[in-house]
Amino acid sequence: MIVALSGTPGTGKTSVSALLQKEGYEVVSLNEIAIKKGFIEGIDKKRNSKILDIYRLNEYIRNKYAAEDLVFIQGHAAHFLNVAEKIVLLRCHPKKLKKRLEKKGWNKEKIKENVEAEILDVILCETAERYPEKSIFEIDTSNKTIESVAESIIEIIKSNFEPTKKYNIGKIDWSEEILKDF
Ligand SMILES: Nc1ncnc2c1ncn2[C@@H]1O[C@H](COP(=O)(O)OP(=O)(O)OP(=O)(O)O)[C@@H](O)[C@H]1O
Ligand SMILES: [Mg+2]
Repeated sequence: MIVALSGTPGTGKTSVSALLQKEGYEVVSLNEIAIKKGFIEGIDKKRNSKILDIYRLNEYIRNKYAAEDLVFIQGHAAHFLNVAEKIVLLRCHPKKLKKRLEKKGWNKEKIKENVEAEILDVILCETAERYPEKSIFEIDTSNKTIESVAESIIEIIKSNFEPTKKYNIGKIDWSEEILKDF
């Protein structure tokens, strides 16, 4: 089974992936596959970021991983794949997200763009357009350590991805934050 692990940049995908790998789970980075295999369609000059060739990534990931018991594909575009059966989305309160992105050394403009995307539920909306609600799990990482986020993901795995109120979508609402200055 392929599980996509997505979320706005800075929500902690790479950090939690390292812990999941330590626990023996297989996690691969969508960006790393794209770079290694050349599945890049172009460069978004305005954002100085790569545009991934999701169609070829899908084909490659399906051939390589679909037969495996469990593999996570992590990256902020992982929810665009249609080969995933389940989606785990990491969320983070805008104020904390801003701090995390500052720690990453990102510039003001990029921080603002991503904090706004988190407030507007951009990734959740993109995911909900593609996947049924019961396949999507949301984890609010704002007040959790990276270890605790990993524990939540392991809890979801151990429950065989049974939908649960605890990680249901639709509980997070940071819309009031849009009026504040980031
Ligand atoms: N739960 C957490 N609590 C506190 N800090 C965290 C947490 N998760 C991640 N961080 C910190 O936030 C920063 C961003 O984390 P990370 O690089 O894992 O995010 P990401 O989702 O992989 O981002 P990107 O999409 O840019 O790759 C790092 O400095 C990390 O240490
Ligand atoms: Mg990352």
